[in-house]
Parts: sequence; structure tokens; C-alpha cells
Amino acid sequence: MTDKTDQDRVLIFDTTLRDGEQSPGATMTHEEKLEIAGLLDEMGVDIIEAGFPIASEGDFEAVRAIAQRAETSVICGLARASFTDIDRCWEAVQHARKPRIHTFIGTSPLHRDITALDQQGMIDKIAATVTHARNLCDNVQWSPMDATRTEHDFLCRVVETAIRCGATTINVPDTVGYTAPRESADLIRMLLERVPGADTVVFATHCHNDLGMATANALAAVEAGARQIECTINGLGERAGNTALEEVVMAMRVRNDIMPWRTGIDTTKIMHISRRVSQVSGFAVQFNKAVVGKNAFLHESGIHQDGVLKNVQTFEIMRPEDIGLNAKNIAMGKHSGRAALRAKMAELGYELGDNQLKDAFVRFKALADRKKEVYDDDLIALMADSAASAVDDYLQVKKLRVICGTEGPQEAELTMSVGGEERFVDATGDGPVDAVFNAVKMLYPHGAKLDLYQVQAVTEGTDAQATVSVRLSKDGRVFTGQSADTDTVVASARAYVNALNRLHAGQGRTSNSALMQSAG
Ligand code: KIV
Ligand code: ZN
Repeated sequence: MTDKTDQDRVLIFDTTLRDGEQSPGATMTHEEKLEIAGLLDEMGVDIIEAGFPIASEGDFEAVRAIAQRAETSVICGLARASFTDIDRCWEAVQHARKPRIHTFIGTSPLHRDITALDQQGMIDKIAATVTHARNLCDNVQWSPMDATRTEHDFLCRVVETAIRCGATTINVPDTVGYTAPRESADLIRMLLERVPGADTVVFATHCHNDLGMATANALAAVEAGARQIECTINGLGERAGNTALEEVVMAMRVRNDIMPWRTGIDTTKIMHISRRVSQVSGFAVQFNKAVVGKNAFLHESGIHQDGVLKNVQTFEIMRPEDIGLNAKNIAMGKHSGRAALRAKMAELGYELGDNQLKDAFVRFKALADRKKEVYDDDLIALMADSAASAVDDYLQVKKLRVICGTEGPQEAELTMSVGGEERFVDATGDGPVDAVFNAVKMLYPHGAKLDLYQVQAVTEGTDAQATVSVRLSKDGRVFTGQSADTDTVVASARAYVNALNRLHAGQGRTSNSALMQSAG
């Protein structure tokens, strides 16, 4: 991994499951984390940061399971500068084919104040913890959190200490998204020039997007000699997010003439993983997002359409198929058969077994009965919908009738299965969705707060499916649900019930922010 001979190769370190999952509300279940890790491994991500094992039993179990399954990626866990954290992290990653411990401490004056450590105290702590990590694992990454606001002389001293004590990768985080491209490059250059032993390790760049410069800052760091980029799918992450994997990878590919570096990423897998991360995290991708946004390859204006038809290169710098997007998007309909559905699903990145195909086909036929043309996005929504619910869910929507219109109050008649028992209720509300949610609450009183209710049309037209995302919170834990249907109110009811099923199963997660704070 610390191969210093291939200077064109940039390692891709994905932290969707750690920094990405840290963004408020971006919760994923255990199974979803395993699925995303599998996709990252398959697409050629070099290092997967699978979680923060000390944060909770759930985080620990997820990192351990990912470590046991990973085929080629290095599996990394995060740990604060404490022996307990590092031991727990090692316990979680040790069975990976290629394990890594990533330990960090805040080194800027602001963070030193919080930990009440003076400079020497902090150096001693770094020496002890990095040595401890290295005694457990020969692949150790160390990060001075808030590096971009740390005094340069002190930064050189701490980095030198970490290298001397056995760190093999030095990550340079711009924790609050404060730096700019030239400064990002200068910082890496300065460390490479001044720190003894810098030539024996890999330097990594870890940028946040608070000022919208995370991608530019990461690429500037590479230009200066960093050879690992830390990033997330869709740029998911705390606050404004992290460097987006798809952006740095495609930038290096499209502009290889001026950024002559290679990654090991199979870019044709980008679109599928982008959609899955958006679906399981409940974070919609903005339409005009670079590379993976819905509009990234759309040409609306006449001049652009004309140009693209004559020669695609006039307005397209990359081809949709380079990121796994099916440019033709030929619709399916109710006469399409099982084999056609299997082929289409494979094209969209879903390899379906026989039982999955059977289930998907039933759902597809039901959808095709209601909707004349079934587009790729409809099928993707359909797959997400079936992944979000199961036949043995504690709560299931059985029948729903809603009376709405200009005269309120609106009314919902709901039959729901609660722990296998069918119950009926009639409720009113301020609008149809409010009436439905009130009905669900009457059948399953839960005390959770509704933090997010979001509706997105999957395709155009009045018969389009709507995807509804719901986020609930209770006792500091967050639960998300999602569903798609041509009837927005039905999708709302199911999304709400999906989130409640997670609450019922205790599948929420607590925020890691408090733990990060205590790392100083
Ligand atoms: O942003 C940051 O500083 C981090 C560290 C834990 C690497 O995420
Ligand atoms: Zn971060």
C-alpha cells in the first residue's frame, strides 16, 4: 500500500461509512453498510474507512463484518488517541485481509485548549498512541485533526513524531473546510520538504466542503505530492460534506493531460453506488451535482441539443456510459418479459438471483399496470422500495383510503398490521399526509419527532412515481425510511412506517459528533 515507486497512482480512501455517516440523519442499517462496503470493494476503492468502532456496539459490529467480507480493499477503522479506542478498533478490523488502524487527535490551538494538553503533552500522547497502534497493526494512519489551522512548526513536529513511531500514512485534514487550493498544496509541499522521514510514508488529503472547495483542495494536494485522497460518495459528510469521490476520480480521468494520475476505480460503477448511497442515507443528490446529478448529462437548450446531436463532444466532456449511466434509457412496459427485466436490471447494476427476479417482476408488472412507460429511474426506485421493507416487518400498511380536497379536515382510513395483528383506524389531519401520519400514530404510538419529510418525483408526468423520505428522532437516535409509489400519500405512509420499523427494531444510530469533540 505504501508503494512509493508508482508516483502516478493515487490511492482512493472512501469514508462514506464513517465521515459520511456522521452527517446528521445519514443513518444506515447494518445490512446497508455491508452492501455499500461490498460495492466500494468491487469498484476498486483502495481503502474503506468502515466506521468508528468505539462509537457504539452497532458501529463495531458493522466494521467487524465488513472487515471479514472485504475481498481486496484495505479495511480501516477510526480511533481517538486512546489505548481503549485503538484496542477496540483493532478488535474490529483485525480479521480483514488487509487491516488498517486510523488514529487522530486535534492539533490546532483550539483543539489543544479543549484537551488541555500543551505542545509537549500532545507530542507524548501521539508517540504513545501511534506506537501502541503500530504494535498491533503494521498499517497505521495518523491524522492531526484541524491540520490546516495548526501552526506549521508544531505540525511538522507532530507529523515527525507519528512517522518516527510507525505511522505509514499521514493524513492532513482540512476539518472545517477552511483552506483553499494554493494553501492546500503549499501545506503538503511544506511537510514533504521539512519533515524527516516524509519520503517513507504516503501523504493523504482529507477535505471538507464548507466553502465549496473540497475537490479543488484535494487535487491541489495531489499536485503537491499527496498520494491518497479521502472522499465520500456524493460528497456525503458532516455539514457541507467531504470531497466527492466521483468528482476527483472523473477529474483525474477527464483532465489526465494536466492531472496525470491514475486511480484503481472502475468508473462505470459510480452511478449505481451513488444512487444506493442516496437511497440508504436518505440524502437526495442535488439535480445539478457534478458527475452524478440528474441534470449532469441533460441538454435542455436548443443550441446545446443541436450541438450534441451533431457531435457529442461539443457539450459533453465525459460520456454517460463512463460512469455507468445508460444514455438510451429505453422505457419498459407491461408487455416486457422476465428476461428483459433481468437484462435491464443488470445494466442498472443489480445482479438479481431467481427469487429476487420473481419478486421484482411482480412489482414491475404492478407498476406497469399503473404507469404506461417504466423508465430506468422507476426501476431503481422500485428496487430501493423493496430493499427498504420486508414481508416480516413489525408494521405493515395493508389498506389506505384518504379523503381530501378543499374542505378540511382531511381524513385517512388505515388498516395496518401491527406485530401480525390487523388493526383499523380512522383519523383526521391538516392535509392528507398529516391525516395518514396521525392514523399511524394512533395504531403505533411512538413519541418520535418527525425531523424530515421529503418528496421527490422519480420521473416526469402526472403518473410519475414519487419517492418519499422520512427521518425521525427519539432519545438522540435517528431513524430513516423511504418508499416509492405512483400515489404520493401511499408512499408517505410506507416511508413513515419503514422508519418506525427501524425504530421498533432499535436500528437507529447516535451521533458521533460528541466523541469527535472529546478527541480535541
Ligand atoms: O475531518 C477530520 O478531521 C476527520 C478526521 C477524523 C480525519 O474526519
Ligand atoms: Zn472529516
